[in-house]
Amino acid sequence: MSTMSRRGFLQNSALVLGGLSLTSLVGCGGQASGGSEGSAPAAAAGAGAKLVEEGKLTCISNMYFPPFEFMDEKTGEAKGFDIELSNAIAEHMGLTANWTSESNQSFDSLVPTIKAGGKADIAIAGMTITEDRKQEVNLSNPYLDSNQSLVIKKGSGETLKTLDSDEKTIAVQAGTTGADWAKENFPKAASAGNIKGLDDIITAMEGVSTGNFNALVTDLPVASYQINENGFDGLEIEEEIPTGEQYGIAVSKDNPQLLDDINAALEAIKQDGTMAKLQKKWFGQEL
Ligand code: ARG
Repeated sequence: MSTMSRRGFLQNSALVLGGLSLTSLVGCGGQASGGSEGSAPAAAAGAGAKLVEEGKLTCISNMYFPPFEFMDEKTGEAKGFDIELSNAIAEHMGLTANWTSESNQSFDSLVPTIKAGGKADIAIAGMTITEDRKQEVNLSNPYLDSNQSLVIKKGSGETLKTLDSDEKTIAVQAGTTGADWAKENFPKAASAGNIKGLDDIITAMEGVSTGNFNALVTDLPVASYQINENGFDGLEIEEEIPTGEQYGIAVSKDNPQLLDDINAALEAIKQDGTMAKLQKKWFGQEL
């Protein structure tokens, strides 16, 4: 598929997404009733947690981060590991995960939106738990371990050394830990203004394929998936960067009960094997 048509697909998907109903988006059965019976002691069935919409766990993300979150090219549905995890969490709380055309935001607006309140209950976005973010919002217990990666065009010969030059351009997703890592580790490229913060990782990968960018820094599971499963086989991972990150779910500091409920649900999901199942489905293995 050409890079143009890939891009076109995504734009079309965004349009389609706008016209779909909530249930068709997520396709989860929901829990008609009775989420609060005694059979599920681990989760408090949402009792006491404030919710934007009653009965729903309203989610936001940045949908250009496969396989964690992306829009299905054909149907415009929100899909991915985080989407299914949100469904499982919601179910444990006796709620339905609520994904709409409004759920897709730029990555760097997610924490401010959760902090401001009123639009969404949680941001679930392959979001690394960092001290800076913890100043602004609460983050759940970790649900996945991750690292960064340096992605280059196959055979281009770029390395960590060759890239730190004012003549090289490195793409990142704006506001991410990969962006911070690139700024710190490519100081010459950074001071020349050559670390380019984009809104989405797919545009960044296309740019590396076409030679617009010399490299990309992004989360390793995303790079592997895109290269091995999603058509970007003209790219390669030049370096795995062991940053030791962990992903958490962002919740407003004004909603401590929701944080407790999410953590209880995550624990139950780990215990009952759902977490392992989701990881195998989306990553081919447990991470
Ligand atoms: N883990 C990285 C971070 O937290 C990147 C996350 C990007 N996620 C997304 N849905 N676009 O900064």
